[in-house]
Amino acid sequence: MPENLPIPDPCAGHVPPHMTAEEFRSLGHRMVDWVADYMAGLGERPVKNATRPGDVLAALPDRLEDSAPGWDAVFRDLDEIVAPNLTHWQHPGFFAYFPCNASGPGILGEIASAGLNVNGMLWATSPAATELETCVLDWCVDLFELPDTFRGNGAIQGTASESTLIALLAARARAGGGDVSLITSRQAHSSVIKAAMIAGLATSPEDRRRLRLVATHDDGRMDLDCFEREAQALLDETGALPAMVSATVGTTGTGAIDDVAGIRARLDALAPGGRWAGWLHVDAAWLGAAAICPEHRLAGLEHADSLCLNPHKWLLTNFDCDLFWVRDRAALLRALSITPEYLRNAATEAGGVIDYRDWQIPLGRRFRALKLWFVLRHYGVEGLRAHIRRHIAWSEWFEQRVVADGRFELVAPRSASLVCFRLRAGDDATRALLDRVNATGEVLLSHTAAPGDGGFTIRFVPGSSLTEFRHVVRAWAIIAREAGG
Ligand SMILES: Cc1ncc(COP(=O)(O)O)c(C=O)c1O
Repeated sequence: MPENLPIPDPCAGHVPPHMTAEEFRSLGHRMVDWVADYMAGLGERPVKNATRPGDVLAALPDRLEDSAPGWDAVFRDLDEIVAPNLTHWQHPGFFAYFPCNASGPGILGEIASAGLNVNGMLWATSPAATELETCVLDWCVDLFELPDTFRGNGAIQGTASESTLIALLAARARAGGGDVSLITSRQAHSSVIKAAMIAGLATSPEDRRRLRLVATHDDGRMDLDCFEREAQALLDETGALPAMVSATVGTTGTGAIDDVAGIRARLDALAPGGRWAGWLHVDAAWLGAAAICPEHRLAGLEHADSLCLNPHKWLLTNFDCDLFWVRDRAALLRALSITPEYLRNAATEAGGVIDYRDWQIPLGRRFRALKLWFVLRHYGVEGLRAHIRRHIAWSEWFEQRVVADGRFELVAPRSASLVCFRLRAGDDATRALLDRVNATGEVLLSHTAAPGDGGFTIRFVPGSSLTEFRHVVRAWAIIAREAGG
């Protein structure tokens, strides 16, 4: 065939309807408008809708339409099916669980990341994604005043649950594999137990052979005397101290803070040679964000082998974004590194680059550092401190109302912005109060079991970027009114 004749496309009749740049621009503007309107109007919606199981499925067609419905239909469905059937986590009256706060810069970071849609599995596949992540995590070492040994040793994970699992795998690698054990407290997040199940240390959440849960004080802090007894029992029964201990700095129930240095000291005292060789992981998923303020730095981290904290909870970075640091990356890389031929490349082989695939469970990885970078640059450190400090001050105000009202009692001392309280009238009354408060649709609070007596406990924790002091005042007014005489 002469060279200048065009080669016919063998699939010319099958052109996917990709958006043109102009279509994308116009729909993109419309979508940003939709999100901006959603956020601006959130306060007018109920925090939680009265959706029943199956309502959304019933509103959706059984099968995909044969022809594309057009974007007007998509926006209509967002308005009529999706938005009215959500619990609105960014709502100013959302005081439940822990926050999962979004922000303008966080959302823009997600857009940029989605637009680039690179896969940062290797340095070679996305140098900027890798090095920006390393840089931002090193900034955070300074911002949170973390030990210098964490510098250059941080990675972004999706969630704290993944970080804890990875820490456990690294701990097992450091211990040389085999039947390792894990100790944490009864108030540790369920993700620690789940990590033990995934890693094969426990066959069920109740399996206590190699997963030991230590009693806590009434406020939720690990009881170190019980901890020491548990570690000794493990040593007697298995011949080894735990390969990993997971301490919680800010428990999910009451925000209690385990004594990280004390845990290390007790283990060292039990270890032959006076030095425990295991892995001390610190889960600061929620409370860690507060450490951006000098008055809320995390204590004892020089004793930690790894730390995780979630900017997606309380630091204005859209879900998902968990920061994970290790003191010594060698065990982590031993646990997670594998190099098939198709991933070999000159940069890896020459050394000196980080391939973040070796720091996580999956191979592929999102460019999450962008949204955190945007958030840090938009708010600046003082802006982020203001965000944290005002939530803590508001919760202090809320706590004072609880203490001053004889119908209520605090279940544990306030931890940063988390207030745990209940009616003196007991569990049933407290449960009924929470139901009535949440039924107003103006606010949403959640509950836990008190670490001491297991009693029904209401948790109040602000976090949305849309929450203002008047929403906190309103929340207390509703609670006080619904509590009755
Ligand atoms: C102390 C603690 N650890 C871990 C988690 C789990 O977080 P993630 O959803 O990031 O896995 C939570 C969630 O609230 C938590 O409070």
